[in-house]
Amino acid sequence: MITIKSEREIELMREAGAIVAKTLDLLELEVKPGMSTRDLDIMAEEFIRDHHAEPSFLNYAPKGDPDVTPYPATLCVSINEEVVHGVPSRKRIIKEGDIVSVDCGVYKSGYHGDAARTFILGTVDEKIIQLVDVTRESLERGIAMAVEGNRLHDISAAIEEYARSFGFSIIENMVGHGIGSELHEEPAVPNYGRRHTGVKLREGMTLAIEPMIAIGRSRRAVSRRGAWVAVTEDGKPSAHFEHTVVVRPGKAEVLTRSFLQG
Ligand code: MF3
Ligand code: CO
Repeated sequence: MITIKSEREIELMREAGAIVAKTLDLLELEVKPGMSTRDLDIMAEEFIRDHHAEPSFLNYAPKGDPDVTPYPATLCVSINEEVVHGVPSRKRIIKEGDIVSVDCGVYKSGYHGDAARTFILGTVDEKIIQLVDVTRESLERGIAMAVEGNRLHDISAAIEEYARSFGFSIIENMVGHGIGSELHEEPAVPNYGRRHTGVKLREGMTLAIEPMIAIGRSRRAVSRRGAWVAVTEDGKPSAHFEHTVVVRPGKAEVLTRSFLQG
């Protein structure tokens, strides 16, 4: 069932979303080569708790996979060919030339916010800069379709068409999702699909839209049995951006916008 949130519920989600955005802003300013992914995680958890909120991902247990243990951290930090769910570690050192995708969820007053950004550390290939720019823009194209009266896969198709027009591939086995009192609610929000199909979008639906796009031909992110981190099949880099949005008439409301300018 897809729930429609009341304005009161959306107000609470706005608070959670603002903390997500500020956490990512902090990490964007602080991330440097030589830091470990665990350093980022500690910084994020402290910031979130200082704002009287909790990390959504910590201890999250996906239903139906007994091999996977509850998620042990605040952030997912996924570097280069890692698509999603990189578990922060003291031993994983960020280096110049990496692209670092940071995914953050915050739970406050009964509601979640969820967003992700990919940061570029220093000098990287032109193609990788393009990958990151195109993934960020594909999310904006998707968000632009999250308006009342459109259909769900109008979002998906906008993301797919934009990313594919640059020759990038869509990671098809990872999707966005409804969000609210649960981190993952219906509907699934794929990053590919046909326009004018899927459920009709109605004001008050809240969605986490999250394109995961890769260089090369990989169409899936794969993980070893029992492991959280999922990587591209061919080892080529991937990028990830995510926002939590409210479907509105005319223009979606984004709950996790950065407070940084530019
Ligand atoms: N944004 C990701 C998602 O919605 C992050 C989830 S991490 C997990 O799936 F630990 F909660 F699974
Ligand atoms: Co998400």
